[in-house]
This record gives sequence, structure tokens and C-alpha cells, in this order.
Amino acid sequence: MLHFKSWKKTAGILAVALSVSYGAAFAAPSDTVDERLDQYAAYIAERKDKDFGYPINHDIQLAGFYQWLVDSGSYAAMVNNAGDPFHPHGEIMNTLNFEREVIEFFGPLYGFDTNDLWGLVTFSGTDGNNHGIYFGAKYLEKKTGKKPVLYVSDAAHYSNMRLADLQNLDMVLVPADVHGCMIPAELEKALKPGRPALMVYAMGTTFKGGVDNQDALNAVLAKHPDIVVYRHVDAALFGGYLPYTDFRDAVNRKVHPFDSIAVSGHKFFGMDEPAGIFLTTMEVKENQNPYNVSYLDGSMPMINCSRSALSPLKLWYIIKRVGLEGFTEQANGMLERAAWLKEQLDEMGWPAWLEPMSNTVYFKRPAEAIAKKYDLAPDHDDKLGGDLSHIVVMQHVTKERLQNFLDDLAEAK
Ligand SMILES: Cc1ncc(COP(=O)(O)O)c(C=O)c1O
Repeated sequence: MLHFKSWKKTAGILAVALSVSYGAAFAAPSDTVDERLDQYAAYIAERKDKDFGYPINHDIQLAGFYQWLVDSGSYAAMVNNAGDPFHPHGEIMNTLNFEREVIEFFGPLYGFDTNDLWGLVTFSGTDGNNHGIYFGAKYLEKKTGKKPVLYVSDAAHYSNMRLADLQNLDMVLVPADVHGCMIPAELEKALKPGRPALMVYAMGTTFKGGVDNQDALNAVLAKHPDIVVYRHVDAALFGGYLPYTDFRDAVNRKVHPFDSIAVSGHKFFGMDEPAGIFLTTMEVKENQNPYNVSYLDGSMPMINCSRSALSPLKLWYIIKRVGLEGFTEQANGMLERAAWLKEQLDEMGWPAWLEPMSNTVYFKRPAEAIAKKYDLAPDHDDKLGGDLSHIVVMQHVTKERLQNFLDDLAEAK
């Protein structure tokens, strides 16, 4: 039998051995929970102000929300938005009413009439694209009795390609030009007569911020009236801020017709975890497989059963606290600073590009130490001279921080 002292020693040796073989997953005895959390906090504090390379808003305004969540005791409940926000039920505790308000706030900004609007708060931009592609494919199959072909540019986000694969759809990758925009003449060559077309338009490609020219692409499609078309817009980042700028029409379906749109919640809006919104029309929703579920009191056209109840609540809080005025100020500030950064790089003679409507400045890749310091994602384009990086000018990417980057670049040059 082990005495307490020798048991403690054995346990200590065991813990050390385990932490050596399995890394940080097994905490050593001295590694307390608080210490680990403090290490995490230090990591965040060190990284976040210089995190320029990804489309993420670190200017999070949710402190008041979390204060309320704890003070009110609401944190101590498992709440679940399984169900339809446009047909709320009382079966499981949920925030479906808040979720519907979120969708109804955004609907008119993308040209949806509130009496012909359906949507939900998603887990991410990818989840929104999953819904757009799934709803589009099912809608077209129902209307035509044929499986569609999905067309997407080769500069679009890879989630669209992954999802076409996942949903077992025939996909055509249409070449994009050097700005990241689908080439209309290439779409024309690629169109498959006799099959419906599921178009995925990229409104802001991830690396270059290219925006597909919907008018030019629609003109190609209009030459083939026999092809039934569904248009899904992947506007993960740009869809967040464009409605509050002079470029608002680019994501307005009354100006450029589309059937559904997906936007990330953690990019422009300042969610602190992955989330998004998916919006479509009632007509599209009503042409889905309904899967009526009695215990959720209605049809379940969405892909997921359990869904976050906290995300819609946080998005609702952000909308109420920041509002149209705040979003307008943030969106235009980002575009101004992006234009300013491009000007500064031009003055330095550092090759740089900025597409119209974009907050993403891409440029010749700097020395590795600078790329690492500012977490600059890599890319490569022979047509633009080789290795590239970009800065996504989000809310936390202030002029002062950009100036630090420019100083580092000038010094290294
Ligand atoms: C254009 C585009 N679409 C889709 C996505 C995927 O969005 P999420 O990361 O929210 O799943 C991204 C992510 O960066 C993106 O840039």
C-alpha cells in the first residue's frame, strides 16, 4: 500500500511523464488553471494589436454583454436555438425572437423586403455558404428536375469548393483575373447548356478583395434564357461593411438580383467567436425539404438542429449598441485607412494594390520578421512579381498601428 507522501511523489512523476508525452493537454501539478488562463491572456494581449493579416475585428464591444450575462444569472442555463426563427416555438429555451430581429435588421440592408425574408444566424461564413449552396441546389432541382452545376471563381474562398464537394455537386472553377474577379468570357465558355446554374458570386475574395462583376456575369447568363439560375453571394467580409458605404448597391439585391447571401459575424461586426448570417427569400425557403419536426413545432429547412442561442443574442446586442451610425463610422474609417495605407506604400515605392470597395491592401511580401510580427498571411502571384502579403484594415487596425508597420518596413528596406 502507498503512503500519502510516496503516493504524491508517484502522482507527480506520473503527471510530469504524461505532460512530457502528451504536451500541454495534461497539466503538471504546478500548472494551475489560473496560471494557464493568465498565460492565455498574455498571449492575447501580445498578439491582438498587431494582428493585421486576417479579416477579424478585434475591437470587441461585448464587455457590457458579459457583465449582464453574469450579473443576471442568465449564464447559468443551456439555451438552444434549434428551430426556425421565423416560426418561434416554446419547446426548448431559446433566443429565436432575438434571432429573427437580427435577420430583420439586416434584411433591408441587402434589399430584402421584410415580408419576403427568411434567414438565420449561422455558425460562420462557411455555414452561410453551406446553406446558400444547399438551398440553391435544392431550389433548382425542384424547379427543373435537374441537378445544377455550381460555378465559382478560382479566386473565391475554398469553403465554396469544399461545400460543392461535400454536397456532391458538379463544380466548374471559372478562372479569375489578376484582381481576383471571375472572368465573364471564361464563364461563357464554361456554361453547360441544359443544366441549371448555381452561381456563387464572391463579394470580396479573401486575399485580394476582388469583387465579381455581377452585371457582366449576369449579362453572360442572360444570353442563355434556357438556363435556370440561382445566385448565392459569398460576402463574408465585404457584406458586413458595404451596406454603410457609397458601395451599398453592390450587395443590394434590388440593384443586383441574388437569391441568398452569407456574411460572417466575426469579421466586420465584432463578434468574439465564429458566427454569421444567412438571408434568403420566403420563396427559396418554401422550396426546400421542410422536414416537419413536431417537437420543434414546425419545419426545419436549416441544416443544423441545435444552434447557438448566445450568438444571436450577442449580435442583437451589437446592433443595439453600435447601430447604423456606428457601423457607418467604422466602415468608412476602414476604407479611408486602407486608401491611406496604399498611398503610403506607393510613396515608399513598395508595390501595392487595392481593389475598388476593398479594405484589403495587398503588396509585395516584406521580410519574414515583419510578416511574422504582423501576422501577415502569404500568397503568391507570378503576374504581380511573386510573393505577396496583405493587410486587412479592420476596426482595430488604426493609423498609429499602421504607421508602426510602415516604419518597420522602411527600416528593413
Ligand atoms: C470570402 C470568404 N468567404 C468565406 C469565408 C469563410 O468564412 P468563415 O471563416 O466565417 O467560415 C471567408 C473567410 O475568410 C472568406 O474570406
